[in-house]
Amino acid sequence: MTDPSIPLAAADGFGQGAAAYEAGRPSYPADAVGWLVEEIGITPGRRIVDLAAGTGKLTRLLVPTGADLLAVEPVAAMRDQFRVAVPDVEVVEGTAEALPFDDHSVDGVVVAQAFHWFDLVAACREIRRVLRPGGSLGLIWNSRDVSVPWVAELSRIIRWDERGRWQVPYTVEVDWAERFASDETGFGPLRTFHTTYRQRLDEDTLVARVLSTSYLASQDADAQAVVADRVRRLVAGFPDTFDLPYVTVAYLGVAEDRSMR
Ligand SMILES: C[S@@+](CC[C@H](N)C(=O)[O-])C[C@H]1O[C@@H](n2cnc3c(N)ncnc32)[C@H](O)[C@@H]1O
Repeated sequence: MTDPSIPLAAADGFGQGAAAYEAGRPSYPADAVGWLVEEIGITPGRRIVDLAAGTGKLTRLLVPTGADLLAVEPVAAMRDQFRVAVPDVEVVEGTAEALPFDDHSVDGVVVAQAFHWFDLVAACREIRRVLRPGGSLGLIWNSRDVSVPWVAELSRIIRWDERGRWQVPYTVEVDWAERFASDETGFGPLRTFHTTYRQRLDEDTLVARVLSTSYLASQDADAQAVVADRVRRLVAGFPDTFDLPYVTVAYLGVAEDRSMR
């Protein structure tokens, strides 16, 4: 069953691809996560929401901080994977545009690889509603490093440049600091942190990673087999394990106090 309150491409893709997502998607670089932890103040006793938590790829990295973590994820199949991967953190149903929390009840919100799916202005308004005054919003995205030739070829196999055809919104091409500045977000200027990441994987994990891409996860088995075969041929001469390189960018915004205006 799909969730009608989020884009169909997300509901279908992440609903059908949840297991491949957990198996194939990368984690996040320690320096960028450390920057968010420091700047947001993710410390023991502080209530932090991982919004659009998916299978908990970012959440699990925050557990050692001792913060009071809570995850929100609209797709049931992703929540099921989350509960197995991160059993000590509660995950609840909800969307960025309708969060199941009281006003000013949260110290910080983090969003990994997902803000591009949200309605920018509605989500910012809702996140500001639940944040305590001065609370922070942290965003992070990994994107494949297409300056490496085989990774550029991988992106061609995935037909990444054509993903708009499947209503998949664009992500890392967007300068989110600029978008936040030009819309009614109420977060003031975003600060950024740039770094890189390497995901160690084998051929099967790479195939899982590719097939977890939302618009591929919802395609039929024959179409997926064609893509999987091309990916396997691309890395046929590679060692048993190899690195998929990413460039990573994190952003930090602090909720403006609009009552001061
Ligand atoms: C690429 S996954 C990222 C998952 C996880 N944060 C991670 O780092 O792996 C994008 C997630 O955004 C969720 N999503 C899409 N639209 C959403 C919305 N409007 N509100 C909340 N979550 C949404 C999807 O269900 C999916 O789990």
